[in-house]
Amino acid sequence: MSHDDFPTDRPAVVTCGLPYANGDLHIGHLRTYVGGDVYSRALERLGQETAFVSGSDMHGTPVAVNADQEGVSPEAFALDWHETYAATFPKFNVEFDNYGHTHDETNTETTQQLVRDLDEAGHLYEKEIMVAYDPVDDQYLPDRYVEGTCPYCGAHARGDECDEGCQRHLEPGEVEDPVSTISGNPAEYRERTHKFFEVSAFSEYLSGFLDRLEGTSNARNQPREWIEQGLQDWCITRDMDWGIDYPGGEATESPREGGEAAEQDLVLYVWVDAPIEYISSTKQYSERVGADAFDWEAAWTENASDAHPEGGEIVHVIGRDIIQHHTIFWPAMLEATDHTEPRAVMASGFVTLGGKGFSTSRDRAVWADEYLDEGFHPDPLRYYLATNGGFQQDVDFSWEKFADRVNTELVGTVGNFLYRSLLFAHRNYDEAPIADATSEEVAERIDEAIADVEAAVNDYSVRALGDAVTGLARFGNEYIQRSEPWNLVDDDPDEAAQVIHDCVAIAKAIAVLFEPIAPEKCERLWEQLGEDGSVHEVTVEAAREGPAGDLAEPTELFEQIEDERVEALNEKLESRIAEAEDDDADEDADDSDETDGDETDGDETDGDDMTDIEPLSDDRISFDQFQDLDIRVGKIEEAEGIEGADDLLRLRVDLGAETRTIVAGLKQLHDVENLPDTKVIVLANMEKAELFGVESNGMVLAAGEEADLLTTYEDAVPGTKVK
Ligand code: 2FM
Ligand code: ZN
Repeated sequence: MSHDDFPTDRPAVVTCGLPYANGDLHIGHLRTYVGGDVYSRALERLGQETAFVSGSDMHGTPVAVNADQEGVSPEAFALDWHETYAATFPKFNVEFDNYGHTHDETNTETTQQLVRDLDEAGHLYEKEIMVAYDPVDDQYLPDRYVEGTCPYCGAHARGDECDEGCQRHLEPGEVEDPVSTISGNPAEYRERTHKFFEVSAFSEYLSGFLDRLEGTSNARNQPREWIEQGLQDWCITRDMDWGIDYPGGEATESPREGGEAAEQDLVLYVWVDAPIEYISSTKQYSERVGADAFDWEAAWTENASDAHPEGGEIVHVIGRDIIQHHTIFWPAMLEATDHTEPRAVMASGFVTLGGKGFSTSRDRAVWADEYLDEGFHPDPLRYYLATNGGFQQDVDFSWEKFADRVNTELVGTVGNFLYRSLLFAHRNYDEAPIADATSEEVAERIDEAIADVEAAVNDYSVRALGDAVTGLARFGNEYIQRSEPWNLVDDDPDEAAQVIHDCVAIAKAIAVLFEPIAPEKCERLWEQLGEDGSVHEVTVEAAREGPAGDLAEPTELFEQIEDERVEALNEKLESRIAEAEDDDADEDADDSDETDGDETDGDETDGDDMTDIEPLSDDRISFDQFQDLDIRVGKIEEAEGIEGADDLLRLRVDLGAETRTIVAGLKQLHDVENLPDTKVIVLANMEKAELFGVESNGMVLAAGEEADLLTTYEDAVPGTKVK
């Protein structure tokens, strides 16, 4: 089944991964939320009925451990953070239609019902397993209460995830050499009865689901490999007090008994009730606005609506560390209970600082509040986060890069066009419409920008949304420059009026098309254009309509960031990073901050936007030196992942005379199954290297951070020398 292009007539739900309610938000967290907000606004601008929902993740050890440290109850602790988040997101113009939390009544009921449904459908069973236990403290040690060694890759891991190594979800009992994170005592394994969801029975369904799944390619590639390796069933209960009670024992609607496990006072694993909040939050939204305005059941349930028996369009926007939960466990739960299958998963890369992950505990971060306290407007950060590199790329934050993008693109291109044309229009004409209609050339260019926005939405590319608008503003600058209306005012006032009408029409199109990325600035632009109502209420059709209002005196929309400012901000940040690095050195880098991105190689983190293009090198090489490079045309014959390596592929590449094994960092950036038969350019005499136990015999050449593969224009055969 392939999906119809957006906009469709089905209700859409865009969700953002639930932040654990356990600590301050930094701009690394904001990337996902800004991405989700931009995407849901863009869907709405296309005319798609859309609910944008999320909530705070209140349960589980990520919250309980931090609450313990503060000496407060997990409930009070999590509620406090929930309120902070609910107030912080709008400050960045991230406007959820509903922002709930997992501990409220709606989610408790929805979760318990869904678990009963799983049970009644025969998808749950009970099993005795070994769980970590601290014999000195007499305490079970679920998830983050225990740490040890990952059985798959040998990295240091915490109870339920290999956060520093292969990123796998770990089942209870899997971590080796367990130690309590509370007492530091060596833990032992004890037998307990727990409830399991038979995820393995859904392997075939999940393979098909991944073939249908849209969004970013990383959300399909990794899970395919996990399925190939064989799925394990999933333990859905924990020996804890904090969480939603396993419903078996007290079920009034379920005919089944809870069994032994339920008698043990188990709570549900946090990853059961967290995604269910997507449904609960949508339900709360419907209850608030009425089902006529948004029908959560039609969106989330198969066969709930005659008009849309297959349900709505569900788009999950998440960080790439939680792909497995959203593409294996969650769709299996949905399928097992007749809920709507997600249409897309957009998994973002992390934001890094100097190539390293943000760290809450080490204060290696730019904090959300700090950004605002510095007096910056939220929209430039939204622009930066949304457009600096592809969505699945890591983005390395620096104040220089931020200032450069703001000054060059927002101030220099978009702001400059808007201010010069609106000021000229206001001074000379004072009101619009000025000519009867937009000229054909400009109307066509606006149509092109609208088509670019539609394509960006259907490609799940928030970056391309930004490019569509900066491209239109660049055209506007070129158009006003070449048309020189200031020289026409006296000699050819009709032509001058036409040019200005066209420029105001472009400005109006920018207001509509840029609203998803810079909502507050575009609302102000809308007012300057004298348009009625709110730009948040219109669709892209308004961008075609031409100017209608009386122009107000324009003001500059974006502010230049001066070099001295950047220097001061840099200094502050650099000393903070240096301190964090000292801590790293002291403590052998054991950062157990669950909401932070993992550490990534510095050379993988720069965005590949135009302003990051390095100057051309003056360091010349001789022709002889070039001749030393044995560059060949190759053809990929096979491509597969490498155990334990997130980004790498083992390729078999036909080089004419022989077929070589080459390891390449393409896994997150390309659809692995599409690579065979692709022609590539290979540096054949690159020195050999061993990566994750595989010897790489050559190097595949690719451009930029998205590893755009170099290929040949015509039909050069494998082995042909490139010269
Ligand atoms: O990894 C995390 O931060 C989780 N709190 C995300 C939950 S997303 C969803 F499934 F609810
Ligand atoms: Zn691992």
